[in-house]
Amino acid sequence: MQKLDLGVNIDHIATLRQARQITQPDPIQALSILKQAGANQVTIHLREDRRHIQDYDVLNILKHSSLPVNIECANSPEIIDLICAKRPFKATLVPEKREEVTTEGGLDMRNPALNLTIAKLKKSNIKVATFINPDENSIELSKALGADGIELHTGTYANLYLALNEQNLSHLNLLKNLHHTDKKTLEKMLQDELDSLKNAAKFAKSLDLEVYAGHGLDARNLAPIAKIPEISELNIGHSIIARSIFIGLKDAIKEILDSIQKAQKG
Ligand code: PXP
Repeated sequence: MQKLDLGVNIDHIATLRQARQITQPDPIQALSILKQAGANQVTIHLREDRRHIQDYDVLNILKHSSLPVNIECANSPEIIDLICAKRPFKATLVPEKREEVTTEGGLDMRNPALNLTIAKLKKSNIKVATFINPDENSIELSKALGADGIELHTGTYANLYLALNEQNLSHLNLLKNLHHTDKKTLEKMLQDELDSLKNAAKFAKSLDLEVYAGHGLDARNLAPIAKIPEISELNIGHSIIARSIFIGLKDAIKEILDSIQKAQKG
């Protein structure tokens, strides 16, 4: 089993700050904690609507982080230009919809504009990943357009896990009609989604792409994903920041790292 790195997505520290439009909590203060806790990467998402991370956060984080910085972004010319000028370690191209609560699905790799964007990022010496659903077509297109890696969207897996393991979820829009689905069907859907993620990881690796995964992962549900041998990096945000309210950021990261370690040993 290869080494599995952890990228910690710190957007939601900025979400809390933006709720008050003041200066605290400042995501910059998370950097040393990520490092001490043993995280391998800082991940931030500069959204077009700037709902959490701001342009000045990008500049500050790039200036002060001793860990590699992975910037998630939509294929927006203004943001791509900023990223090309500032040269983070990696850019992860994601789909974005203004009205969504969070990134809802994988990138549509058939978008002809992606070709130029990936070429531009590569020319600036930035590693490029595409955030995609686990399907062969998206993987082949990512390879053909010159991406270095893919990040598999684990959101469907995480929602199915939640629907199976928690009660009283009918108020959650995120789960759409999953709460009307019986247990047996949910178990099959979860297994099918896990199989798709495993097959996608294997196929991507066979094309010599690096394979990452993320979205909706937490200490409880990550084990089957962490066991997929081709995956070399998980990006986890919401669950870590949520847990850190109660136990602190350092321990929240350590909890995730422990779960990864246990999964890989088990
Ligand atoms: N990976 C990508 C590409 C994402 O867009 C996000 C959410 O910003 C994450 C990982 C982290 O997802 P979560 O916050 O659900 O852990």
